[in-house]
Amino acid sequence: MKKIIYSCLVASMLASGAYAADGATLFKKCIACHGKDASKVPPGGEVASVTLSEQEIVEALKGYRAKTFGGKAKKTMEIQAAKLSDDDINALAAYIVSLKK
Ligand code: HEC
Repeated sequence: MKKIIYSCLVASMLASGAYAADGATLFKKCIACHGKDASKVPPGGEVASVTLSEQEIVEALKGYRAKTFGGKAKKTMEIQAAKLSDDDINALAAYIVSLKK
């Protein structure tokens, strides 16, 4: 019985996102260059992140992290993406697309 209660507890904690990366908190570090609602074209960049799809954002961030993606200002983003986990990247992408008006 104890085991069942425990696994229910863990499941509900996971469902409520207790362990999930928080896109809104992570995005605070991005605001200076991308704007509060990701609608700013970053200095040296070409597009506003908010115009991209969730998939495109995930690919961009993983690409910057792996140093296989980017334009002429990619060095800036390689530094930003270096410390992001896959969970962080997914949370950020979901948060950025949620900013679409
Ligand atoms: C110091 C400024 C700066 C910060 C901080 C920053 N970025 Fe960027 N970002 C840029 C620049 C410049 C580019 C364009 C790079 C290139 O030429 O590929 C870019 C590109 C991107 C792109 C690709 C599409 C686009 O918008 O150009 C995504 C997605 C992105 N950033 C997300 C993020 C996220 C998420 C964070 C926070 C974890 C972040 N950035 C923090 C400057 C920044």
